[in-house]
Amino acid sequence: MTKTILRALAGETQAIPPVWMMRQAGRYLPEYRATRAQAGDFLSLCYNPELAAEVTLQPIRRYGFDAAILFADILLICQALGAKLWFETGEGPRLSTLTTPAELAGLKPVEDIHEVLGPVYETVKILSKELPKETTLIGFAGAPWTVATYMIAGRGTKDQGPAHALKAADRATFEGLIGRITEATIEYLDRQIQAGAEVVKLFDSWAGSLKGQDFDDFALKPAKEIIAALKARHPHVPVIAFPREAGTRYQGFAKAVGADGLALDNSVDADWAAAHVQVDGCVQGNLAPHHMVSGGDDLVRETKRIVKAFSKGPHIFNLGHGITPEANPDNVQRMIDAIRGA
Ligand code: CP3
Repeated sequence: MTKTILRALAGETQAIPPVWMMRQAGRYLPEYRATRAQAGDFLSLCYNPELAAEVTLQPIRRYGFDAAILFADILLICQALGAKLWFETGEGPRLSTLTTPAELAGLKPVEDIHEVLGPVYETVKILSKELPKETTLIGFAGAPWTVATYMIAGRGTKDQGPAHALKAADRATFEGLIGRITEATIEYLDRQIQAGAEVVKLFDSWAGSLKGQDFDDFALKPAKEIIAALKARHPHVPVIAFPREAGTRYQGFAKAVGADGLALDNSVDADWAAAHVQVDGCVQGNLAPHHMVSGGDDLVRETKRIVKAFSKGPHIFNLGHGITPEANPDNVQRMIDAIRGA
């Protein structure tokens, strides 16, 4: 096994940690903006295998990242389950809302999702042929709670209020939705792996708003179910979990859900995480994305501090969240140089 990302996820400590970035294919890159314009809009880009593969490859060509992440979006599965989905320019995703038992019953059955998601598997197939042999291909899905927050509210929300409200008012419908997304996610990731994904990552961007028993029931339990089902079918494919803003709940999370790696957001202190989280296995993260905008000595100092904090165990360097459109592409190269000691 030679790929650096796979070695880290297998528990190997490496002198230079492998690196990739959340949202590495994105609007901060002029070549991404050009391909997106060619596709017409964001969703057309996601469902166009040739162009989605092209934008996935762009940051690999430019920077030589150790991993490529499939270009798609965590909300495509909502559309595959029958929700309406569109993106308002400058605002973000919009969906039909789901708050009633009738709307839950109106969703498509899980076995139908591949009709919509077929082009995504095609993108994975193209990438597994075209990526450099040292680059690891990462597939992904949203975790059920995070996907449910968008399906319930019909948009992104600051506090996930509508999802918490449904959980309180109609537990059966809420749990039914979580269950349906959980099943669909297993089949979706299974197909990505069959098509050539070598690692899969579960994005639970809003895990931090679940507290106490809710965290166990709706962040931990669905992740554990998904990972167990995938491991039964693909025992050697590593899984990275990302319960963003889980705080102290990061501790023990990877073990509890059976993940091989745990992605850390930038609110977690690196020294604390090295002592309490990395003891269980590979961690990934946790540079604050704003450094990609401001750059300078701060970026280099902070990058080196994180590398050093995690140097005694398995680590994949990454940002704590996605790179933003305002980022300067030169700063990405400075970060990589600081990691690799160039
Ligand atoms: O390069 C990669 O990281 C792979 C592709 C990827 C995208 N979205 C592309 C994208 C991945 C892994 C995601 C995950 C995703 N999508 C998450 C989880 C991670 C996170 O950010 O917390 C979430 C919550 C979404 C939902 C989503 N998609 C939102 C809220 C938005 C709008 C906000 C924004 O940044 O514009 C998107 C759009 C989106 N997804 C873009 C990209 C490159 C920007 C769309 C564009 O080009 O206009």
